[in-house]
Amino acid sequence: MTNSDRVNFGSRIGVILASAGSAVGLGNIWRFPYEAGQHGGAAFILIYLLCVLFMGMPVMISEFLIGRRSRANTAGAYRILAPGTPWRWVGFLGVLTGFLILSYYSVVAGWTLEFIVEAGTNSFAGKTAPDFSASFASFLQKPVLPVIWTACFLLLTHFVVVRGVKKGIERSSKLMMPLLFILVIVLAVCSVSLPGSEKGLLFLFRPDFSKVTSDVVLGAMGQAFYSLSLGMGCLCTYASYFSRDTNLAKTAGSVGVIDTCVAVLAGIIIFPAAFSVGISPDAGPELIFITLPNVFQQAFAGVPVLSYIFSLMFYILLALAALTSTISIHEVVTAYLHEEFHLSRTRAATLVTAGCLLLGAACSLSMGVWSDFTIAGMNLFNLFDFTTTKIMLPLGGMLICLFTGWYLDRRLVYAEVSNEGSLKVRFFRAYIFLVRYVAPIAIAGVFLKEWGLF
Ligand code: PHE
Repeated sequence: MTNSDRVNFGSRIGVILASAGSAVGLGNIWRFPYEAGQHGGAAFILIYLLCVLFMGMPVMISEFLIGRRSRANTAGAYRILAPGTPWRWVGFLGVLTGFLILSYYSVVAGWTLEFIVEAGTNSFAGKTAPDFSASFASFLQKPVLPVIWTACFLLLTHFVVVRGVKKGIERSSKLMMPLLFILVIVLAVCSVSLPGSEKGLLFLFRPDFSKVTSDVVLGAMGQAFYSLSLGMGCLCTYASYFSRDTNLAKTAGSVGVIDTCVAVLAGIIIFPAAFSVGISPDAGPELIFITLPNVFQQAFAGVPVLSYIFSLMFYILLALAALTSTISIHEVVTAYLHEEFHLSRTRAATLVTAGCLLLGAACSLSMGVWSDFTIAGMNLFNLFDFTTTKIMLPLGGMLICLFTGWYLDRRLVYAEVSNEGSLKVRFFRAYIFLVRYVAPIAIAGVFLKEWGLF
């Protein structure tokens, strides 16, 4: 396939919704609240915002310009822009990271389907806190059911990706994202209106810097990359379908704002509801699968129908958010196989789905029957989460900055960000300064500190 045969997204809103769909996901609604909950709420959020601004935004613009300039999958992009150099490894690293993330992400995404069914069949009714924790533990111990849900989620993703960029990715984002925004806002309003919710808001917005350690900073940085889908060529792949007149910086700004708003709104859904029934929000990854169903039950104890609707809407929201993200990760690997190995799109997607299903099944079992098998003290699921989020994504982000800041010709970078000079780019010098120095040094600093070398 030549580069000019490639399909583009059909509209500006399609570009924004697809990219925001990639960014908004379990990272915002599952990961962000428990990371914030464990790391002191507002102080974590503040550091997170700084990471988004000074590392996330420059990396996103860089991914956009690499993708649109090369009009290729992420591995192909480096081959085209830096032929014959080791930079191509950055592309491969991205594809590998995508493959690993998709494998364990689909497991959690699969749980959301189980919870939609449980919420829909009203099986949360009458349960108490220990019941929720016992029933989630017994669900994870089952060898087959969680794997089936993982497979279902991967198949849903597969069918969208196979339909292609315009009919699959763009159309599904245009359908799902508005629904997602409505659900987030309705749920946040309901949560804030509960009696006693102020404590949750205070937790979310009043910083306690005594909890800030280097671990918190690493966590916030990893979370920023993860939540914005950066560091593995995901937005680079999407940008290869942008048209020549897409304003890259503006699109990056919109995606950053949407993603951050949804994360904060997820906090506004979860913390006020949790505090209103006196439950601590620092439960960790199981927060939304054990703590929350219980919170929803108690918060609307007088009106069971409200508990029912609230829970069902919440898990539908979670599944939608996860789906728009799995689609984008799947696309990275599919586009790579499709373009680099000249496989048909369907065949490429099938390989990705099958491979992720195998690894995903292993991750799923590692939370239950295989939990005794650990590497460096972590089961497979946690190992994948840790290595991808805390190492591979920030490392990928740093390399992407070095590539645009130091390797690419400055005129090429300017031409791409300014749409060949047709846009005024007032922030260009600041951008170059950030990608050359600030972002790579900050990422390296956090790494060194974390590994005890600094
Ligand atoms: N950004 C997604 C989320 O917040 C996860 C993701 C990571 C998607 C990396 C693509 C690439 O859930």
